[in-house]
Amino acid sequence: MSATDRAKKLIDRLPPRLASSLIGGAQRVPKLRDMFEAEFETLLDSAPVVRPDVDVPVYERLPEVGRDQANILDDVRRLAEAEHGDWSDGYASGAVYNGDEDHIAFLNEVYALQSQSNPLHLDVWPSGMKFESEIVSMTAGMLGARVAAQSGDEIVGTVTSGGTESIIMAMKAYRDRAGIKRPQMVIPDSAHVAFDKAAAYFGYDQVRVPVGDDYRADVRAMARAMTRRTVVVVGSAPGFPHGVIDPIPELSDMARERSVGFHTDACLGGFVLPWAERLGYDVPPFDFRLPGVTSMSADTHKYGYAAKGTSVVLYRGRDLRRHQFYVATEWPGGLYYSPTLAGSRPGGLLAAAWAALVSMGEDGYLEATASILETGSQIKAGIAEIDGLRVLGDPLWVIAFASDEVDIYEVMARMAERGWSLNGLHHPPAVHLAVTLRHTLPGVADRFLDDLEDSVAEAGESGGAATTGAAPMYGMAATFPSRAAVGELMARYIDRIYEIDD
Ligand SMILES: Cc1ncc(COP(=O)(O)O)c(C=O)c1O
Repeated sequence: MSATDRAKKLIDRLPPRLASSLIGGAQRVPKLRDMFEAEFETLLDSAPVVRPDVDVPVYERLPEVGRDQANILDDVRRLAEAEHGDWSDGYASGAVYNGDEDHIAFLNEVYALQSQSNPLHLDVWPSGMKFESEIVSMTAGMLGARVAAQSGDEIVGTVTSGGTESIIMAMKAYRDRAGIKRPQMVIPDSAHVAFDKAAAYFGYDQVRVPVGDDYRADVRAMARAMTRRTVVVVGSAPGFPHGVIDPIPELSDMARERSVGFHTDACLGGFVLPWAERLGYDVPPFDFRLPGVTSMSADTHKYGYAAKGTSVVLYRGRDLRRHQFYVATEWPGGLYYSPTLAGSRPGGLLAAAWAALVSMGEDGYLEATASILETGSQIKAGIAEIDGLRVLGDPLWVIAFASDEVDIYEVMARMAERGWSLNGLHHPPAVHLAVTLRHTLPGVADRFLDDLEDSVAEAGESGGAATTGAAPMYGMAATFPSRAAVGELMARYIDRIYEIDD
């Protein structure tokens, strides 16, 4: 056994906190630091290669003379073609939610017409605010605005660059409205990491509350976690890891009783659940029809089927939204206002999102949702039938599975060898597939289940921890006792993916 293995074995036996400080301290001892450096390098070397396998020039600096546009187009086309089959043939979890060639061509045409537009210059491009205000209104209408209006509440919002920005903006609004030192947010452990980002950016104390055995938020535990400094409580519809819907009615009532804000993160479900409900699926209320829901996020660039780069954040009332805005009255650059994080914004993406919503219409979303949910239930049932696998919780179309018999990361690696790009999860170790319209194409669900069955069998035969793909990183993250060391490794990984590969 190598010295590194011996040290790791010893560390693994220690309580995590002691192990963590030991590793922190060890970094200051040159010999031990070298040992960790070697370990980091080995792990990074086994991380997936992130450069395309296409023969195109690599630029570390600007070309002295600009290149011919036709040649550039040829390079970009070949890069796109090399990646196309992976997502287009349904090998990716989530990622591309519609992917139909005609739909994409239509969005591209709309984008091309508006590619220079920037709503920051309202006088030059008034169409930008037309698109944005109507996207907000259509999304709000889908998520209970008409019921809220009956009690006198107006649902307003903005378009952002994606789910993360929508969440960050909402958390800023709650922080600024409260105006207290170290505000607190209470979120279920399954909530998206964007809430952690917001907490880090805006000086929140964040309490992550363990979820129940069904992977849904534990209402009583969430209630116990609230303090006088709690300014917002969060639930997901559904959550990213396990695709299950939190008990939003109970959570939002609890927040309302204490005059605290409640955010439903419907980044994944905002454009699916309203239609699922109409189709007769058992969907608990999750939107502005609940009086306690004070803000929501819903991603147009996921199941809204828009191009990448847009999401909607919604608020109950203009007052809360106002805390999202930024205005500057004394800047020498002039009177300045900005509704979201970005200054200049891509008007072309607003146009494409608007066009996606209007071209889909209610009937289009109903039809898309029906086929996604049918495929979801076929895949869920199929996974449950595979010996050695179990589905986590009771999801509709984002389906997480784990195993008590084989290393699930090894299964993920075997699936990757067959072309599948699935999402690795941890706490507990699991993998998920977010079903999109790509998986509803003929034969895709069957191919997934066949490949999964074979991958589980292979993982059972090999009996060892996976050594390929992203699996070793997940395996390491699940068992390595020091979170600081895992964080260091991940930061180094980001450094690595920015390196020019010549
Ligand atoms: C539930 C949920 N919230 C937020 C996000 C963040 O969205 P984005 O990746 O667009 O920033 C995601 C992304 O998958 C999500 O599933």
